Parts: sequence; structure tokens; C-alpha cells
Amino acid sequence: MKPDKRRKTIVGNWKMHTTAAEARHLAGGVVDGVGNSDPVTVILCPPFPYLALVGEILKGSRVALGAQNMYPEKEGAFTGEVSPTMLLDLGCRYVILGHSERRHKLGESDAFINQKVRFALACGLDIILCVGETLEQRKANQTEALLDRQLNLGLADVPGAALPHISIAYEPVWAIGTGKTATPEQAEETHQFIRHQLVKMFSMAAAERVRIQYGGSVKPENAAALLAQHDVDGALIGGASLNAGQFLAIVRAGISEPQTKRKSA
Ligand code: PGA
Repeated sequence: MKPDKRRKTIVGNWKMHTTAAEARHLAGGVVDGVGNSDPVTVILCPPFPYLALVGEILKGSRVALGAQNMYPEKEGAFTGEVSPTMLLDLGCRYVILGHSERRHKLGESDAFINQKVRFALACGLDIILCVGETLEQRKANQTEALLDRQLNLGLADVPGAALPHISIAYEPVWAIGTGKTATPEQAEETHQFIRHQLVKMFSMAAAERVRIQYGGSVKPENAAALLAQHDVDGALIGGASLNAGQFLAIVRAGISEPQTKRKSA
């Protein structure tokens, strides 16, 4: 059995999309459709300008609010940045860190991501740390070395006691926004590798509880097969999270999918 703490988690990452009106409509659609007693954690991460309005809509629902990024300081002369205390003030419980678009398009280093990870945790946010290889790295058989590095550097100096507040999102860069998805077997194999690294870095008991989500072109059509994998504990959804019907279909796939047994350790 999976530990209780590895409840499936479905996260909508809206990226730099929506207007205020669209954000309101989308969040309302998710809240209306999600129900009350579903055994899946649902998180929406709108763009910064809409956190407050989406937060109001989510209030009293079982959908949690998350942010897509933050700066690792409480306040100060950091023009254009947003602090974790501001996120908490707006009702955010989660923050996505190390997304591949920030790594590759905005030049974020593992060291900077690690600063954010430690600061977010110290401030009381739960983090979703994204890791994943490019197509070139996969072709060159560098996937495991890359993931090892991103995990070790991203989680450097993070105490084991913080692990309940950390989930990992495995997002192969070649699958993000491309319509190409890792097969359920590829996802499972990589998630097992990630969990194995976490065992080495922390402990078996702690690593078994960390939720590892898959991200990269997850759609209603492929969600059930991915979420059925033993070590796939949820999904981080970009494109399909911009449509309430599609996002809710993925949430439902997470609820109804029986877990498979792990084939190999
Ligand atoms: P996608 O994005 O679902 O559009 O591929 C996933 C992500 O970047 O988190």
C-alpha cells in the first residue's frame, strides 16, 4: 500500500495565461466541479496578479492555492519580485520551484533554486520542486545523472524533517507543451529512480512518503494510465489546466485509478 501521505496530487500550472475574467471563470469551474470528498489534493497555480482573486474563489473549497515562483527574501529592494510572505498572506500554501521554463528560459541555476527551496520551506510554504531532462540529455543517456544533480543540488542542506512539505515533479523537458508524453513505463521507471535517490539522500521511510508527480502533456486521454503507476503520485498540468473540463477529467482519473504494484524496486 502507498502511505496515506502519498495521496494523489493534481496541480494546475496556468503559466502566463488567462485574463482576470478568465481566471475567475476557470477557478469557479474547477471549484464547482471538484466536489467535496474526493481523495485527491487539487492545487491551482495562477499567475501572480490573479492570486488574490483566485484565492477568494477557492476559499471554503477543497482546492488549494499555489504560486508559480517566488524570490528567496522576505522583503527588500528586489524590483519585480514576489516574496514567500506575500504568497502566504494571499493564502498560498504551495509554490512551484525550478520549473524547466525558469531553468532554461530565465537561466535559473540549481544553486538559486536551492536558495528558494530552503527559504520557502523556512517560511512555511510547501514546495513542488521540478526536475527533468532535455531531449538531448535523454538521447545521450544522461537522464539519471542530470536528475541526480538536480535533486542533490536542489535539495542541498534541506533537513529530512522538511520532506513532508516537499513534492517532486518529474517533467521531461521534451514532453512539456509538446504533446509528447513519457509512456507510463518511462514515467514509472524515472519516478522509481527519483525515489531511490531520495532514499540515498534521506531515508527509506521518508522517501516513501514523498509525492512524485509527473508533468508534460498530461491530458484526460493519457492521465489514467500515468496515474495508475505505483510511483506516479499525481500530475502537474500546464495546457490542459486551462480548461476546467479537461482539468477535472484528470482529477477524476486520479480518483478512480487503482494503483499498480511496483514491478521492481
Ligand atoms: P504541459 O505543461 O502540461 O502544457 O505540457 C506542464 C508543465 O510545464 O508544468
